[in-house]
This record gives sequence, structure tokens and C-alpha cells, in this order.
Amino acid sequence: MLIRSSSDIVPSEITPRGVFERRREFLKTASGAALGVALQPLSAAIAGEKLAAAVKSPYSTLETPTPYKDVTGYNNFYEFGTDKTDPAQNAHTLKTRPWTVSIEGMVKHPRTYAIDDLIKLFPLEERIYRMRCVEGWSMVIPWLGLPLASLLKQAEPLGSAKYVEFISAADPKTMPGVSRRLLDWPYVEGLRLDEALNPLTLLAAGLYGEVLPNQNGAPLRLVTPWKYGFKGAKSLVKIRLVDSEPRTAWMKAAPSEYGFYSNVNPAVDHPRWSQATERRIGEFFKRKTLPFNGYGDQVAQMYAGMDLKKFF
Ligand code: MTE
Repeated sequence: MLIRSSSDIVPSEITPRGVFERRREFLKTASGAALGVALQPLSAAIAGEKLAAAVKSPYSTLETPTPYKDVTGYNNFYEFGTDKTDPAQNAHTLKTRPWTVSIEGMVKHPRTYAIDDLIKLFPLEERIYRMRCVEGWSMVIPWLGLPLASLLKQAEPLGSAKYVEFISAADPKTMPGVSRRLLDWPYVEGLRLDEALNPLTLLAAGLYGEVLPNQNGAPLRLVTPWKYGFKGAKSLVKIRLVDSEPRTAWMKAAPSEYGFYSNVNPAVDHPRWSQATERRIGEFFKRKTLPFNGYGDQVAQMYAGMDLKKFF
């Protein structure tokens, strides 16, 4: 089992990048702040700026995080180009302040949050997650984020709400790729409501103890570690509760290749390649891909009785 129990956690300051890179010798606070402490908000919106503090999470893996340069230099963000190095090179044009994220649709309390208010209202947690891309590579990323469930609970989904749609920004002035018809913009993703409420589901505002770099989806992006990485819509502007399954950008582009669920599943090949193994960025030998990316204990019950070959 790759999930830590809460009793194993050393409450500490948010782990700085340098500390991770010295093999994660965590700094310990003198006070030993408990899980659930209030946080200082994002003081600035500049990528690389430190996020003051975060609560560590029992959901973190103990695996070694992928080096910062790979996490922030090898990306998929088609709004800034299709090569892996394009987002790091081009995403400086994205303006992440002012920025609002609205929660809307079938909720009792629709609301538009200024991003800095959102981050002040909900404590950020550090979550070190394994991430598996549909293309066959994987990373371990120390995210800073808020559980999506906290935001949804505040909004109070109506009984009719069954799914959540996530909508990315699509501004041709600041996102050059949007002028090319690579996808039907804006980038849209979706989760079933129970998936959205699962404690693993995170809205990330940072990584490696710092404000999220633009290329990783600043200022706020979705993270669902048991699904292929493309579910993690970046630079979110809308989160909408709906009663039918959202049509996602990749389902529109290639429905036979990208299903709605997109759970990591070594038993279901992509039509053009196997999903049985993966290459962890920075490693030479391939490793076996685990069902639900190793998060089965937390998520498999949501799919009980479903044929996961049909609902891929
Ligand atoms: N979100 C938007 N808006 N546009 C994109 O092109 N790419 C997706 C996902 N979210 C994408 C996106 C894909 S294919 C992956 S693998 C992950 O973002 C990559 O996230 P990372 O670059 O932070 O590793």
C-alpha cells in the first residue's frame, strides 16, 4: 500500500523545493502544527514565489518526486503548443491576475471567486501524487491544492446535479495555441459527482511549495491521480454542476481513443499502444502500470459493477 496513514505524518512546514531535491529531508517545525492548521494565503501570483505553509496529507505517496525541472519543463498544454517544451517556453504570456473561477450550474450557492480569495478561504494541502499520462510516461508531483469537495460542499450541489464540468480559459490573445483548431476550445473535462467529491480530487494552486508555474496550469487546475493526466484541466475559469455527462475536449477530438472515465487501466490498451507499462520520467527501465495508478483502495468502489473495458 502506497498511501501513508495519518499517524506516519510529520507535521511540518510546506516542503521547500531544495529540500525535496535533497531527497525529501523534511524540515520540522518547532511547534509541530497539527493537520488542519490555517494557512497563509498566496502572497503573490508569481510563479516560483513560495507558498507560505500547507498542511501535509495522508494521501501522499512516499515515492521520490520527479525533479522540478522535469515537472515544469515537460508538459502538455496545447494552448501553448504541442511539443513538450512549448508550454515552458510560451506560457509566460498567460496573465493569471486578475483571475476568477466561478462555480455555477446546479448548485444552491453559485459564486465567482477571485483566485486569491478562493485560496484564502480553503486551506491548501501538500499532496504528493503519482501522475500517469495516457502517452505512457509518469511523474511524482508534490502538489499544493484544496480538495475539490470543500468547494463543492460550500456551493451545495442540487439533487439534480450528477456531473461536474471543468472549463479552462481560452484566450487567443494570451494563449497562442487557441488560434489553431487542434481541439474544440475551450479545453473541457468532466467528472461524475462522486468522483469530484472523492477526497483524492484536488484543485492545485501550487507545486513544490511554490505558486503553480503557468505551464502547469496556473492559477488553478484539476488533479485526479487515478486517471490519465489529460483529465487534469488547466487554468480553470468555470466549474459547472450539470445533470448529464459532459462532452470533453478529447472525447470530441477522438472518441474511440479517449473515454469519459479515463481511469488508469493497464488491462485496457489505447487503440494505438499498450497501457501495461510506463516510463517514470528520469528512470531508464519501464515499470508496470497499476490499476487506478495505485489508488484502487481509495477509488475502486466508485466503479463497482461497471465494465471498465466499456466505460474506459
Ligand atoms: N489542460 C488544458 N487546458 N490544456 C491541455 O492541453 N493537457 C492535459 C492536462 N490538462 C491539457 C490540460 C494533458 S494531456 C496532461 S498529460 C496534463 O494536463 C499535463 O499536466 P502537466 O503538464 O502539469 O504535467
